[in-house]
Amino acid sequence: MFEQLKKRLKNKKMRVMHGDALSLDKIPDNSISKIITDPPWGIFQKTTLSLVDFYFKMLKEFLRVLKKNGMAVILIGQPEIFEDAMEKCSGDWDVLGKYRILVSGQKAVLYKLRVMH
Ligand SMILES: C[S@@+](CC[C@H](N)C(=O)[O-])C[C@H]1O[C@@H](n2cnc3c(N)ncnc32)[C@H](O)[C@@H]1O
Repeated sequence: MFEQLKKRLKNKKMRVMHGDALSLDKIPDNSISKIITDPPWGIFQKTTLSLVDFYFKMLKEFLRVLKKNGMAVILIGQPEIFEDAMEKCSGDWDVLGKYRILVSGQKAVLYKLRVMH
């Protein structure tokens, strides 16, 4: 998929990278304006860490790479667990929107977050 996407976007002003959402080590601090992602839901596929730790580590990494007032739009299948992880981030995120939706008949929540720093 990664190679196909790279080929399709070859002549566009876009860079395709493959990496771990918990360790975005090719991306410098404060360099990204927006993140849009559909991370694991912990329903169909097991995560290496507990889901709350996965989300916490991911949110911390997003905070590192996002610029001031940067935004993240995140699709989540188990909002209670995601909100526990956000609580652990102790006020780092401002929740701009929270939209309850169905994805293939499965309840999900789309979060629109902004960095507070
Ligand atoms: C809910 S699915 C998203 C599927 C995607 N929206 C699609 O249409 O293919 C979550 C995806 O996150 C990937 N994933 C799991 N752990 C990851 C990690 N640490 N870093 C990046 N992606 C990860 C999984 O392999 C899976 O493809």
